Amino acid sequence: MAKFWKPGTEKPRLVEDEDGGVLFFYSTSSSSSSSFGYANNLQQQRQRLPVFKRRDAILFLVENHATTIVVGETGSGKTTQIPQYLNEGGWAESGHVIGCTQPRRLAVQSVASRVAEEMGVKLGEEVGYVIRFEDVTTPGVTRIKFLTDGVLLREMMDDPLLSKYSVIMIDEAHERSISTDIVLGLLKKIQRRRPELRLIISSATIEAKSIASFFRASKKHRGGATKELGPKTEPAIVSVEGRGFTVEINYIQEPVADYLRAAVSTVMLIHKQQTVGDILVFLTGQDDIDAGVQLLNEEAQSSGKSNGELLVLPLYSGLSRAEQDLVFSPTPRGKRKIIISTNIAETSLTLEGIVYVVDSGFSKQRFYDPLSDIENLVVAPISKASARQRAGRAGRVRPGKCFRLYTEEYYVNEMSAEGIPEMQRSNLVSCIIQLKALGIDNILGFGWPSSPSPEAMIRALEVLYSLGVLDDDAKLTSPTGFQVAEIPLDPMLSKALLASNELGCSEEMLTISAVLSVQSIWISVRGAQKQLDEAKLRFAAAEGDHVTFLNVYKGFLESGKSSKWCHKNFINYHAMKKVLETREQLKKTAQRLGIVLKSCDRDIQVIRKAITAGFFANACHLEPYSHEGKYKTVRTSQDVYIHPSSVLFRVNPKWVVYHSLVSTDRRYMRNVVTIDPTWLVEVAPHYYQYQGPGSIATLTR
Ligand code: CDP
Ligand code: MG
Repeated sequence: MAKFWKPGTEKPRLVEDEDGGVLFFYSTSSSSSSSFGYANNLQQQRQRLPVFKRRDAILFLVENHATTIVVGETGSGKTTQIPQYLNEGGWAESGHVIGCTQPRRLAVQSVASRVAEEMGVKLGEEVGYVIRFEDVTTPGVTRIKFLTDGVLLREMMDDPLLSKYSVIMIDEAHERSISTDIVLGLLKKIQRRRPELRLIISSATIEAKSIASFFRASKKHRGGATKELGPKTEPAIVSVEGRGFTVEINYIQEPVADYLRAAVSTVMLIHKQQTVGDILVFLTGQDDIDAGVQLLNEEAQSSGKSNGELLVLPLYSGLSRAEQDLVFSPTPRGKRKIIISTNIAETSLTLEGIVYVVDSGFSKQRFYDPLSDIENLVVAPISKASARQRAGRAGRVRPGKCFRLYTEEYYVNEMSAEGIPEMQRSNLVSCIIQLKALGIDNILGFGWPSSPSPEAMIRALEVLYSLGVLDDDAKLTSPTGFQVAEIPLDPMLSKALLASNELGCSEEMLTISAVLSVQSIWISVRGAQKQLDEAKLRFAAAEGDHVTFLNVYKGFLESGKSSKWCHKNFINYHAMKKVLETREQLKKTAQRLGIVLKSCDRDIQVIRKAITAGFFANACHLEPYSHEGKYKTVRTSQDVYIHPSSVLFRVNPKWVVYHSLVSTDRRYMRNVVTIDPTWLVEVAPHYYQYQGPGSIATLTR
């Protein structure tokens, strides 16, 4: 592995690893230092947080300014304290609610339960949370409500002025998630209609200036509210001093080929050579994190000595409650905790006791290509801003160290300063339908914090038009458009659900939609691919993955929702529980829209037809004489293949529709179902035309 070298006079610290490979780091210092100790009870702990010094200032500014921007390091207390200050300051009087949004669901749950604990109340009463498919609030009782910004966006459909909120705090604004950006744009409009509404925008970095200029009222509007003695429209900015200790930054000397293995050996090296303190490792997603946990446990076992000393825990969204609690609970005596996390630990969650950070330099990011219409979550390099945040996690309790698995040269010369807002690298279908449902017709002229690409916008409008959601004037159709907008699913799936009502298979489509809404119902264990494939075969349906899901769901219910049964069949029990909850929530929405619950008693054909009614634009046919299972999409004639995880992999039926495409070495279709091509013309006569047996073409508009 890598040689090492160190700039300046200092010698490198870390040297060899067990296999004779060497990982080298050299140091430079960053961050300021201050001193701080642990408090022994919750209230004392609250008062010791850096944000406490700004408590009165924040309350004063919120009182007098329509928008207050709070900048402060992760862990300074912004998320957990500010909503409580507002509550103490009387902002939740007379039935009003203090809202606080987060881009990530896991953060919503975690901070809500922390705040409930600090206030000594039961979660779901005075303090509650809402994420998609899960509402833990009590109307009339809940005063502080944590929610994802996506959920806030949905609430605007029922209550466009968000009238129950007195203050809304948009947290983690620096992340620039697509929903955060839309919410910021909409809140700016709402403020003009509701000058009494207060906004707090909080950010871990100095994005503050651009956000402030975004919220600065344009000349046309400036002063409007002031004349009526309302709050000042000029945004206020408060900065909360961090309490970070010095973090020594170490770079690897030579680039590494496999960041996962490099991370594992670095952790083992830290464990061997460095004093006590927990280790936080940034990898990218569930797959590499699970692999990392497994590799580290194996290493610890084979090294004998560290066996039992290391407590290796994963951290990503979709963890069960118990797994989350382990991450946040204090490290047992004599143990060293190693948390392997996605980006979520970068700024959204604070972990106590971290002294060492290992930064792979990568995260999973969404990238969308409007031409091929593929939206992929890909492992991509992080920005300097992210790298600095990650390093900062090491300095919470005492001076710490960060080990970057990339070179200093790379950091200085190649890493981009800041990430690209998600808005500019996403499929915009869901975003546009929501704006349309809120009555925003001029999407191009919408005041975006940063404009999306016209190509992505046009593609999204095309999709919505073909689904019959938008009419020729690009307005939502009634009732289809409004119904699709109301269902909290991808519009194609919502459309399939609506079609299932007419075809008499809504029960089945609800199940399929719920399964497609969870990450994966299968357990993937490194090295156990064969067993997983065998387990899948027990449920596999010749018609494809969607029908296979129905078999799994049926088996799960018949087992009495047994976790043992799941384990035996390589099915993720927690995912199945989530499927049940999600299905329940979807069922409520469906009933509200007048969908009649009906089962087709396994008349598989109507189920496939309903799916086709939503996903007809994703139709593909097998290339004649293709030995390697090459398909062509009807719409764009792209080459695509069935993903190896599909039950139809190697089966290669003639005609299919897919749920999504991923592109790795090839473009793969995930979740595939067989269809009869004549259905395409039947369900979408405006889109396809029949050109003789086995030949279907898209109509050009
Ligand atoms: O939002 P910000 O990063 O500024 O800080 P915070 O999330 O409000 O965290 C403030 C303090 O609360 C930290 O010391 C955390 O350790 C603690 N906290 C916790 O112990 N458990 C949680 N689930 C969330 C926060
Ligand atoms: Mg926070």
